[in-house]
Amino acid sequence: MLSIQNLQAAYGKVEVLHGISLDVPKGKLVTLIGSNGAGKTTTMRAISGMIRPKAGTVTLDGRDITGMDSHRIARAGLAHSPEGRRVFATMSVTDNLLLGAFPRFTGARPKGDVQHDLERAMDLFPRLKERRNQLAGTLSGGEQQMLAMARAVMLNPEVVLLDEPSMGLAPILVDEVFRIITRLKQQGVTMLLVEQFAQAALNVADYGYVLENGSISLHGPANRLRNDPKVVAAYLGGAHAH
Ligand SMILES: Nc1ncnc2c1ncn2[C@@H]1O[C@H](COP(=O)(O)OP(=O)(O)O)[C@@H](O)[C@H]1O
Ligand SMILES: [Mg+2]
Repeated sequence: MLSIQNLQAAYGKVEVLHGISLDVPKGKLVTLIGSNGAGKTTTMRAISGMIRPKAGTVTLDGRDITGMDSHRIARAGLAHSPEGRRVFATMSVTDNLLLGAFPRFTGARPKGDVQHDLERAMDLFPRLKERRNQLAGTLSGGEQQMLAMARAVMLNPEVVLLDEPSMGLAPILVDEVFRIITRLKQQGVTMLLVEQFAQAALNVADYGYVLENGSISLHGPANRLRNDPKVVAAYLGGAHAH
């Protein structure tokens, strides 16, 4: 579904990704784990067109989307829920969600039943349903993060990139985010997940990649990575195990 080959990315002269390859098969949940600064967010940005890769290829459903601008990539069916809270503060929750579906109104994506998908998103995120008429800027940080996730789902995408959806959330909301990810997976949504809670990510994922200083050092089925001594020592041992 989503396939990345030898992807390189840089900020100015500083190369951050040194040629990484990974695959996200249809219907699967793949997680990318790694320390702070390893290049996880840069990987997501280079896939979704927020930055232009220096080299390598990104294909979505067999189509080369490398270096396209982010709007075209969204229309091709790739949704990106970026790190941090990127919502439109002065618009209502409902309008933020409808904006997520915007590329579906341009004729480039199957339009489907947007109203139905809006209801489905509200069911998946009950906190947003209760606050559907509230301005997004008045939501708590955690709720804004959920709104960013829900908006990505409103594209009815082929693939969703989730960059640290639980960042900064209270533990009870972290659990809710992982429940939602599990439900999306049950609905057959293809996802690439970056998470600080590597243990929780490997528990829900089918497959995992470990990114170290801009290179993939290890990859394999999630249940194998979970028990790999190197992974346990580096990413699962500490206080962040969930
Ligand atoms: N906008 C930017 N400009 C310059 N350097 C950046 C920028 N964003 C990230 N970096 C650098 O790129 C490296 C990888 O960062 P990032 O992809 O955010 O890592 P991660 O998401 O794994 O924590 C870090 O060294 C970081 O300082
Ligand atoms: Mg990051």
